[in-house]
Amino acid sequence: MSSSSSLASEISQAQTGALSAIAGASDAATLRAVQADLAGKKSALTVLRSQLGKIQDADERKSAGQAINACAQIVEAAITERMSVLLAGERAQQVASEAMDLSEFVSAKRRGSTHIVTQATQRLEDVFIGLGFQVAEGPEVETDFYNFEALNMPKTHPARSEFDTMFIEPASADQEPNSVLLRTHTSPVQIRVMQTWKPPIYAVMPGRVFRRDTPDATHMPVFHQIEGIVVDKGITFAHLAGIIEAFTKAFFGNEFTSRLRPSFFPFTEPSAEFDIRRANGAWIELGGCGMMHPNVLRAGGIDPDEYTGFAFGFGIDRMAKERHNVEDIREMYTNDLRFLRQFS
Ligand code: PHE
Repeated sequence: MSSSSSLASEISQAQTGALSAIAGASDAATLRAVQADLAGKKSALTVLRSQLGKIQDADERKSAGQAINACAQIVEAAITERMSVLLAGERAQQVASEAMDLSEFVSAKRRGSTHIVTQATQRLEDVFIGLGFQVAEGPEVETDFYNFEALNMPKTHPARSEFDTMFIEPASADQEPNSVLLRTHTSPVQIRVMQTWKPPIYAVMPGRVFRRDTPDATHMPVFHQIEGIVVDKGITFAHLAGIIEAFTKAFFGNEFTSRLRPSFFPFTEPSAEFDIRRANGAWIELGGCGMMHPNVLRAGGIDPDEYTGFAFGFGIDRMAKERHNVEDIREMYTNDLRFLRQFS
């Protein structure tokens, strides 16, 4: 460092070199390496700074120090600016590469549509939501406890034989045989909802159910039900009858009416079967219902002295069949597009 003018030119050279290295960094990682080099022992600026001590004249030393600092600040600012440009570009690139094309290709000729059972389920949910209910779901693979035991059907209960149950093979030798099964009705969801929600409960629970049945015009081994429960203070059978009638008119139309016939279910007492009547006078059996048995409320963790409730469950496939005048329920599951497209 012989003279102040050559020092000034060395500083300016160092700055030019630093700025061009910064501008040349094409990604953030390279820029970080450049930054580390510039701060390192071998960088031109560091070398210049280390030689400041050799300047004898105090004023000259001071102004040389200021010039080096000013240069360092310019370099630092250039790094910051370049870094933000590079990072923004890298982020934009990452977002673009991870983006998924969620736009749907809709062709005028071929457009999917929901199955009539799905359509019926959605309409049912809409009607019940309109009546103040919430929708819940439960698992299709159930335990004996939820499907039977908690619904007031202990191991030896004769009503169990009415449900032609499909069992899941035990996963291990220590698992009790027949303790895991495909749910035979949506009623186990009653218990699951009561165990997790607090009363007042107004819930509907649609879903797939399974029974060992041979398919015929009115039966399938896999079908759909919608369960409903109301658990609140002072709920009576009159509320149940009122909801069934309100539902019938809302779902099928004002020309339909409903009736309840005495029946038996282990989980309701008293129990009824309910039918709807078409305008032409024909009665169609839709499902079962009744006041929830105290044992069922208890299994759901609810005190039957404080709360009462009613439950109902009916077949969705049958409703779709009735609404669309389908002759044979098996038609709905043959995947014949000529059949399906009538309802799209
Ligand atoms: N779970 C009954 C069945 O599948 C229907 C039902 C539900 C009856 C709720 C009463 C109350 O047959």
